[in-house]
Amino acid sequence: MGKGFYISKPVGIVSIILCAGALATIIALSVVYSEEKAKNNNQVSPTDGGTTSKPPVTTLAPSNEPWDKYRLPKNLVPDHYNLTLWPRLTPDLTTGLYIFTGKSTVEFETTEETDLILIHSSKLNYTILENGHLARLTSVNSGVRVPLIKVSWLQSVTQYLVLQLDGKLMTGHRYHLYTKFTGELADDLGGFYRSEYMEDGVKKVVATTQMQPTDARKAFPCFDEPAMKAIFYITLIHDRGTVALSNGEEKGSMVSDNPNPNPIRIFARKPAIAAGQGEYALNKTGPILKFFEKYYNSSYPLPKSDQIALPDFNAGAMENWGLITYRETALLYDKEFSSNSNKQRIATIIAHELAHMWFGNLVTLRWWNDLWLNEGFASYVEYLGAHEAEPDWNVKDLIVLGDVHRVFAVDALASSHPLSSKEEDIQKPAQISELFDAISYSKGASVLRMLSDFLTEEVFTMGLRTYLSEFAFGNAVYTDLWKHLQMAVDANGTELPDTVHNIMNTWVLQMGFPVVTIDTKTGVVSQKHFLLDPDSEVTAPSPFNYEWIVPIKWMKTGAVQSPYWLRGKSATNDAMKALGTEWVLANLNVVGYYRVNYDEENWGGITGLLILFFKLIPVINRAQLVDDAFNLARAKIISTVLALNTTKYLDKEREYMPWESALNNLDFFYLMFDRSEVYGPMQDYLRKQVTPLFNYYKTLTENWSKVPDGHMDQYNQVNAISLACRTGLEECQNLAKTWFKQWMDTNNNQIHPNLRSTVYCNAIAASGANEWEFAWSQFKNATIATEADKLRSALACTKQPWLLNRYLEYTLDPKMIRKQDATSTIVYIANNVIGQSLAWDFVRARWSYIFTQYGGGSFSFSNLINGVTKRFSTEFELQQLKQFKEDNAEVGFGSGTLAVDQSIERTTANIKWIAENKQNVLNWFRDETKPVF
Ligand SMILES: *[C@@H]1O[C@H](CO)[C@@H](O)[C@H](O)[C@H]1NC(C)=O
Ligand SMILES: *[C@@H]1O[C@H](CO)[C@@H](O)[C@H](O)[C@H]1NC(C)=O
Ligand SMILES: *[C@@H]1O[C@H](CO)[C@@H](O)[C@H](O)[C@H]1NC(C)=O
Ligand SMILES: *[C@@H]1O[C@H](CO)[C@@H](O)[C@H](O)[C@H]1NC(C)=O
Ligand SMILES: *[C@@H]1O[C@H](CO)[C@@H](O)[C@H](O)[C@H]1NC(C)=O
Ligand SMILES: *[C@@H]1O[C@H](CO)[C@@H](O)[C@H](O)[C@H]1NC(C)=O
Ligand SMILES: [Zn+2]
Repeated sequence: MGKGFYISKPVGIVSIILCAGALATIIALSVVYSEEKAKNNNQVSPTDGGTTSKPPVTTLAPSNEPWDKYRLPKNLVPDHYNLTLWPRLTPDLTTGLYIFTGKSTVEFETTEETDLILIHSSKLNYTILENGHLARLTSVNSGVRVPLIKVSWLQSVTQYLVLQLDGKLMTGHRYHLYTKFTGELADDLGGFYRSEYMEDGVKKVVATTQMQPTDARKAFPCFDEPAMKAIFYITLIHDRGTVALSNGEEKGSMVSDNPNPNPIRIFARKPAIAAGQGEYALNKTGPILKFFEKYYNSSYPLPKSDQIALPDFNAGAMENWGLITYRETALLYDKEFSSNSNKQRIATIIAHELAHMWFGNLVTLRWWNDLWLNEGFASYVEYLGAHEAEPDWNVKDLIVLGDVHRVFAVDALASSHPLSSKEEDIQKPAQISELFDAISYSKGASVLRMLSDFLTEEVFTMGLRTYLSEFAFGNAVYTDLWKHLQMAVDANGTELPDTVHNIMNTWVLQMGFPVVTIDTKTGVVSQKHFLLDPDSEVTAPSPFNYEWIVPIKWMKTGAVQSPYWLRGKSATNDAMKALGTEWVLANLNVVGYYRVNYDEENWGGITGLLILFFKLIPVINRAQLVDDAFNLARAKIISTVLALNTTKYLDKEREYMPWESALNNLDFFYLMFDRSEVYGPMQDYLRKQVTPLFNYYKTLTENWSKVPDGHMDQYNQVNAISLACRTGLEECQNLAKTWFKQWMDTNNNQIHPNLRSTVYCNAIAASGANEWEFAWSQFKNATIATEADKLRSALACTKQPWLLNRYLEYTLDPKMIRKQDATSTIVYIANNVIGQSLAWDFVRARWSYIFTQYGGGSFSFSNLINGVTKRFSTEFELQQLKQFKEDNAEVGFGSGTLAVDQSIERTTANIKWIAENKQNVLNWFRDETKPVF
């Protein structure tokens, strides 16, 4: 294990790596004193202006030339790249732009003769070489005539450098393609880009990369597809006093003073490392790597493992092979500032990225249409890795809340989509980016967890291991994994109702999931596609008619029974008949990706049991009952009153998962009713339910002076305070205000990190501009990103419209709010009942600006659109949304395209739901809070 931060003073570094083009990464770090701000140049620039002549004009007429297609032809295969990159960490004096220059030689083999070379290139300017072209072609095989380049140009739409030759490249022969190029080191979070931060009043610049999915081509010309794996020899030119890192081993440098080549290193801003913020990651990486070596039965495939926290980073983290990049909040932990939830995020993200070192990097899916398997797998095993790092947390249970329940909400819409896409449907960069969604990550994780459960972990890992060993350093498709799992099943003699392939196809090739209904009077078990809005129209055809092969683990009256498989629309299982006081509970621990409904009597039995003997039901299933009931009610399968009935026992519940599940569902009630007369009685009811929990924690923590021991208990303490304050429990609100005031008065923050988010939010909500300004100055001054994030979200809690509007303006000024945080800040503001309409107006008014400035990200647009529209529940809002779609049809919605349709669908459903439920809900809350005489 290594210590934190290395400073070497080399002038040049050579490094060898072996990986897919989309995975390479390069980092440099430097100090500059200039205040020069770069302009953002979003235009595609055909060629280098200085040393070059004009590029040939490219035709815009639709044609079917190879360079008009987004996929590379398969006739050239790269072997290795020798790449030199030189980022300039001070702006160019004449243009004011930050730039990088580079040169590259790629050796490729011709597998089928051709007179055309296509190689990806985006936003790079090329130097015209002595032959008058953008590249030089030579042969590796001696005595072979090398065709001359006839024409060379940049095809900007499909992002190619195109070379037409005067003769054929010969099959089986190898060639070298040399280029020299310049690119902008922009602050656009994609390709080779620039991140900045202040340290001791000095601006520092980092040059870093985000290549996935299609931006390696923005750093250097390359065959930028996941199956075009190659060896990369990388040379980085950088200033003394700066550090350069790459994926592979450092081969040599002009001054080498790094005597301790430790395999595990954590990099970050110098003060962050000095404050020990990298220590937690350093402590946990080794054990997690060891765990995965065992799990995969495959040793870590690289000589070193670096992880770096970057001040500007769009996603959570990126699994570059041997050099993982993170957002600061995803890697840096500080005892004084980080909450247990920050800590869990760090442990799980590290585990997720380390899991990809094998699954994703060592073995790579052939094309992006299988992205769900890559991300779903890592999103599943991240819990296993985190469990290894923190065995006391029970973190594996949390996948139910964090992934299964979360994605149910999206996958229950008629506008959802299957996990698997057809290769030919995923071509353009925007189509690829759109795949990075909750379905790929969370549904992928959920169905793989179900698979691992019904195969048993032993059989699952057996198949996984042979899969990894067969395809190491190569590419696969998702059915290759099924094939290996089937081999394991056959070797083990596991009994299944069908092949792995056939069972899993029902989960992978059709969207959605079933609601399984068990009639305990008759023993009839049936399934139906679960739609949140039963009136929505499913137009997408399904190869299985929306039927699944469903593994059902269940219990009867507290005793676990043998698993049951449901095939077809319905079947009878006499064992599931319940007599007298017997009751049936299915989908134990929610390992299955489906919801469960029962006949009225069994529901009555279960809700009665919740009130009298809730401990007879496993904790995870208590969370499930609440979540299933609320969602079945939204889908009009059961009554809303029955769903509300599942919350009546909560005054006795102390466990985190059921509470969290209830709060997630009641959140919908808040969204629908916090602008209506239901609000008051709802607040009264919830305050009544949460008060015992609040008092329980008050006692447990000796009047808030201690932290509960358990990880989940710490989480539930936060729930107790959040809900108590939210529902206006005076003691809670006073607590929050007092703590916050103490901080303001003494400039000494005594609030425990776990409680900060909720305390900040409630204190700011209850006060005015002074408190807001104080929090803002603390935000700007925060030395750890997790603290800054807590403040940033709390600043959105104010009830003052002018502060909220000003805050919205800040989101488009990168000096105030970093670009990476812009969309989430807008969403925070929209979560506030006062901020909702302000945020919507803001997004509508600025859409085209936001779209062009923030277009690089993979997640942000869908989050933004879903975030600002989720409270929509009136006809008027629906019209506005449709108008928004129409008005911006030309600008487009990029990766948010699907989210616009989902929002329209959701709003339509909300309108109907309110019309049908408002009165019942109001009556129910009133009844439950009637004073007892
Ligand atoms: C690239 O660099 C490697 C290692 O230095 C060398 O063996 C190889 O011949 C070089 N290839 C080209 C095309 O220059
Ligand atoms: C690339 O060329 C275009 C057009 O000449 C120019 O506007 C742009 O600044 C150049 N970019 C870099 C990084 O040199
Ligand atoms: C890292 O491990 C060391 C040694 O076990 C321990 O003293 C330290 O508290 C740990 N740091 C963190 C942040 O967990
Ligand atoms: C099959 O797997 C189970 C565990 O999942 C194990 O107990 C059993 O021994 C295995 N059987 C064979 C024949 O490998
Ligand atoms: C809800 O609970 C009340 C009181 O326990 C009961 O009378 C009522 O039947 C329940 N409603 C439903 C739909 O289960
Ligand atoms: C800003 O942070 C520094 C270092 O953490 C601290 O010394 C200073 O008091 C802080 N300033 C304010 C206004 O809180
Ligand atoms: Zn991932």
